Formats: sequence, C-alpha cells, structure tokens
Amino acid sequence: MVSLTPSSDIPKYKLIFLGDQGTGKSSILNRFVEDKFDSNYQATIGLDFQSKNIQIDNQDIHLLLYDTAGQEKFRSLIPMYTREANIIILVYDITRKDSFLHIPSWINELTNVKIEDIIFVLVGNKIDLNNERNVSFEEGKKYAEDNNFIFEEVSAKTGENFPELFYNKIFEQINIKFKPGGQQMEQEINEIGKVKLNNNNNESNNKNERKNCCGKNK
Ligand code: GTP
Ligand code: MG
Repeated sequence: MVSLTPSSDIPKYKLIFLGDQGTGKSSILNRFVEDKFDSNYQATIGLDFQSKNIQIDNQDIHLLLYDTAGQEKFRSLIPMYTREANIIILVYDITRKDSFLHIPSWINELTNVKIEDIIFVLVGNKIDLNNERNVSFEEGKKYAEDNNFIFEEVSAKTGENFPELFYNKIFEQINIKFKPGGQQMEQEINEIGKVKLNNNNNESNNKNERKNCCGKNK
C-alpha cells in the first residue's frame, strides 16, 4: 500500500505536529512512518521532517510530515513551519493535564494560516498509561467537538488506534476537504535544512535538558 518513491506530480499535503515537549509528537510520527517506537527521549531540535507516500481510494498522495519541537525556545519558529499547512495535529499527553490545557496556546501560534482551510486533529497520546490518566476521554472529545476538530486517543508505544486515526479519520477528511500543496513547500524543505544546521550548534546545550525533561520517562 505504501510507496516509498516520492514524486513531484502527485498531490502533496503538509501535516504539522504541534504540542508540548514530551507529549509524543516524534513518537507518533515514527510509529506512523516506520512502525517503530523508542522509549528513550530525544528532544526534537528546531524541526524534523519526514515524508511518506500513501494511497487513498487508489489515488497516490505525498505527505510532508513536519515534526516541531515542543521546547519553549523554539516557539518563535512555529509560524515559519505552519505556512501552507493542510493538516495540523495537536498532541497532548493524557497523563499530563498541563499539556492538554496548553492546546489553545498552540492554536494561538497559528497567526499566518487560514484556519478554515485546515483540517485540525486533536490527539491524546500515551493511552497505554491509562492508570496514570489525568485527562479524561470525554474532556478531550468535548474540546474537539466544540472546535470542530477530529479527535482520537492513541498510544505511539503500542500503535493502538493508529489505523483509526490516520486511515479512517484524517484521510477521510482529506478526501472531503481537499487542498493541493503549492510549490512553496519545496522551498520550505530547503529552509528547514538551514534551520536544523543552525540549531545543531546548540544541541550540546540540550543534553542536560533532555535528562530533566518531562517528569515521567516512559
Ligand atoms: P519534543 O520533541 O521535545 O517536543 O517531544 P515529543 O513531543 O516529540 O515527544 P517524544 O516523541 O520524543 O516522546 C517523549 C517521551 O515519551 C519519550 O520517552 C517517548 O518514548 C515517550 N512516549 C511517547 N509516546 C508514548 C506512548 O504512547 N506511551 C508511552 N508510555 N510513552 C510514550
Ligand atoms: Mg519530538
């Protein structure tokens, strides 16, 4: 089903992951793209980028997957990445209430997008830690319904609810509300390369932060 060969003549969609540090954005992406999970925490520095080709109803589509950093110091970069976004995935950790309460502040960062053109998805991650849950399913679902967002709870660790989230809910919406990506995306991918190079210089400073991050090391 999944083709590994990107092609420039198929529709492109830009998905962006936003949410607090340690909520599992990179883990969700890795589970989705490579079907793997790493329990060691490696904070995203600036931005990571992956792509994946999929098929919806026999139509090839190319997904550009932008994995942003949750750390406060990278927040000013967010508007640069959210340009031309088609799908924004807002991630919180069901064991951390603060990460759920901060979702509106992530939405506030979206100053340069046309909200009505975007598919919004709210994802509560880490449901394998249900016994440590601090955000109920109903709270998440209500917030999503009130804002007209897709909603799902998942576990990047076990892969639970991934087919439901991506193949049923998100891709179904892509079929309904469709907007081909522009050439600007190619240019942005090049810009990301530069941002990552600059930020790699700061990486050694982050090693201590990684050790202290996120309370629970899951
Ligand atoms: P930043 O890049 O700093 O913004 O963090 P992030 O949101 O990308 O979080 P990341 O994917 O790096 O995950 C943070 C920690 O949570 C890591 O130790 C992961 O292994 C762990 N984690 C992620 N998803 C799950 C999950 O579904 N269940 C459990 N138990 N742990 C998870
Ligand atoms: Mg990350």
